[in-house]
Amino acid sequence: MRTTSFAFGTLIALISCLTGVSCQLRKCWGPQNYCYSWGGTKAVCVDGYCYCSGQDYDYNTCLPDAYGCKIVMNSDAALAKPQYNQQYRTNYSCTPVSSSTQYEVHVLGVYEAEVIHRRPPVASDATVNIVSQRKSNRPIILVLGNYEPVNWILNIPAGITITKVILVAYYIDKSSVSGDVNQVKAIERKSYPAQWPRGIGSDSGGGDTVGLLKKVYNRFGVVTSFTGTYKANKWSLDVLSSPRGPSTGASTGPSTGQITPFTPVWPQSTPLKPVWSSQNTPSPTPVGSEVGPVSALC
Ligand SMILES: *[C@@H]1O[C@H](CO)[C@@H](O)[C@H](O)[C@H]1NC(C)=O
Repeated sequence: MRTTSFAFGTLIALISCLTGVSCQLRKCWGPQNYCYSWGGTKAVCVDGYCYCSGQDYDYNTCLPDAYGCKIVMNSDAALAKPQYNQQYRTNYSCTPVSSSTQYEVHVLGVYEAEVIHRRPPVASDATVNIVSQRKSNRPIILVLGNYEPVNWILNIPAGITITKVILVAYYIDKSSVSGDVNQVKAIERKSYPAQWPRGIGSDSGGGDTVGLLKKVYNRFGVVTSFTGTYKANKWSLDVLSSPRGPSTGASTGPSTGQITPFTPVWPQSTPLKPVWSSQNTPSPTPVGSEVGPVSALC
């Protein structure tokens, strides 16, 4: 009986995952209707489910919607594709139509590249295979963010130069960039959270994707792409040569520093009710760690 209803619930959850945002809704927790609220997400319980009232987050999905980047879950359209042991996992991405016209900025974010519960931690490898049809006409900026230490190995096609790699990591001294670094003009290293924010695209379990998007925005304009996942050891990144959309003046160079206000619009209609109720219940995380993806199924 238990197994049957679990299997049924799983099926329903899968279907609702495929059809909308419902799989991202989390049930409020316990008799107090608790919603785990990290950073600026400002999660609140409404009718038994958690929503996010933070201004830089989507009300329904709780995913960042800030600085020109509206993060969606499990998109096929993303320019970067993270994998863990040849498998796609829950991923968060944006590919804004109006991105910086001056720079091509790709942001990749993970929590870890392998399960490491060793202390002191040891870096794990993550390979980034850069693919490019043509030569970019703008400086390419690559921002790599991780919590557990990662050695990012870049495979860059001949003729492509990365103007700058910005590496943001909690264990910055144990994280590194290697591979075709002779095709990288400069590498900047930032420690998280003291110097730069980082995140995996969902801030519900920790991290600061919004803060990262802001940093990038202030320096380079709207990102060309953001892609994050909890765990990945292999990436492909499609480097484009021109901005995807019309340049409406929304993108800025490094010095203007102007910030377009992104006003969240609250949906008027009642959001889809999730039918699967056994989502993992969020609980407060110890300082310095993050909870995993909302659900292993989604
Ligand atoms: C994210 O995961 C989904 C489902 O596994 C997959 O179809 C999609 O291509 C992935 N997207 C990225 C950007 O990796």
